[in-house]
Amino acid sequence: MTRPAKLNASRQTDFSKLIDPEDDLERQLLSLPEFHRGFNWGKPRFGHPEGLVGLHVIEVLKNIQAFDFDKEIFRDLRLLAITHDTFKYLEFERMKNGASKLHHGLLARQFLEAYVKDERLLTIIERHDEAYHIWRLHHLRKKTELAAARLEALVADPAIDIALYTLFFRCDTETGDKLQAPWYWFVEELHKRGIRVESDLAR
Ligand SMILES: [Fe+2]
Ligand SMILES: [Fe+2]
Repeated sequence: MTRPAKLNASRQTDFSKLIDPEDDLERQLLSLPEFHRGFNWGKPRFGHPEGLVGLHVIEVLKNIQAFDFDKEIFRDLRLLAITHDTFKYLEFERMKNGASKLHHGLLARQFLEAYVKDERLLTIIERHDEAYHIWRLHHLRKKTELAAARLEALVADPAIDIALYTLFFRCDTETGDKLQAPWYWFVEELHKRGIRVESDLAR
């Protein structure tokens, strides 16, 4: 697990020095002020004892590195890792200022449309927390019918690359002190529907 950083607003971490870009797009994104700001957002909390989004991103990147993915999947997963939670700061700021709640995945997608042309990746960025939200709806809030409807909508959505989505969900879930149950549950639900995804990857 990444060591939690003790930081304050006057002493921010330059994550562009801690994350080695794999290509020009990663280099460009990591140099943007929005990413600097986004990576420096967050305090230790359940699921995220590391606090800062940037430290979480580094953990996800390490997970991606640990599996032997082919080059294209590796590149896609890295882009998802670097971008998916970066706009939590904006979700929080908007709410603080009385604006309507927009999930950070949607905010990330809207920002990234200027940089990323692959609709498949934009869709996963936008909906990366949907499987977790559905798990919560089913298991914590006991809204099983609503959860089932949302799960059907997610897995049946032709815009979703479900194999890539599931790989990313695992790399994102095996971080901090997050519960692992949502990922296991999601894979089981996919298998019940005859959707085969890689769930027993060796490191
Ligand atoms: Fe997220
Ligand atoms: Fe995440």
